[in-house]
Amino acid sequence: MSAEPVLVFDSGIGGLSVLREARVIMPWRRFVYVADDAGFPYGRWEEEALRDRIVALFAGLIERHNPALALIACNTASTIVLPALRQAYPDLPFVGTVPAIKPAAERTRSGLISVLATPGTVKRQYTRDLIRDYADKVHVRLVGSEHLAGLAETYMRNGFVDEAAVQAEIEPCFVSQDGRKTDIVVLACTHFPFLVNRMRKMAPWPVDWIDPAEAIARRALAIVDGLPVGGALPDAKDTVVFTSGGPDLSAQRLMHGFGLSQDSG
Ligand code: DGL
Repeated sequence: MSAEPVLVFDSGIGGLSVLREARVIMPWRRFVYVADDAGFPYGRWEEEALRDRIVALFAGLIERHNPALALIACNTASTIVLPALRQAYPDLPFVGTVPAIKPAAERTRSGLISVLATPGTVKRQYTRDLIRDYADKVHVRLVGSEHLAGLAETYMRNGFVDEAAVQAEIEPCFVSQDGRKTDIVVLACTHFPFLVNRMRKMAPWPVDWIDPAEAIARRALAIVDGLPVGGALPDAKDTVVFTSGGPDLSAQRLMHGFGLSQDSG
């Protein structure tokens, strides 16, 4: 019998950037990847409706997969849904993904950082509180991108990216004032690391792009490590669930490439 899986949840392909890190440091775990593609993009949802949707989805996911831990590999969801999930399912540990504002504020030399996220994440009180608590000495530019998550979906599924569109989306991140320039851009959406090489290419000057995936995976490891698990490699395959039920061929191929087979149920 294989141990309980770690469930990795996102609106689409973005959580794969966290899954690939989690797998490397937890090779003895089985993973279930859940893409709520029927709800994509989360960046445009109203907070309450999105919260209700995700809490309701988890009832079925927990019943079917009985996870050891759920990793919400999505900033747009984590910044509103974590307290509600923990309250609704108190026996399941949840790890979230929130904008890496604290490490960016600690690391900046110029004092100018930008947070690149979905329009939903930049509006959240949670994000504003992170800035107040950890970045009050630096200048933070919040950039809510309408199209980057969709561009990342297209790139990962079809291998095509419109570089001019990427350039237009990241352009507001680059601030120059009083002889200082932005030196850090926080990738506050799990879709964005897949486009980071294009972003580097299109950036007006070099910056440090912070991808928190490894730190999130390590946080999950610290929690599941304390839970019962066999030391052997899992005897069942990692699987993927699409809430739409019918992913297209490009999505199926992508998931196959990530070593995920379609959940039959
Ligand atoms: N991957 C998600 C995040 O980290 C959101 C993408 C979307 O659904 O808009 O915020």
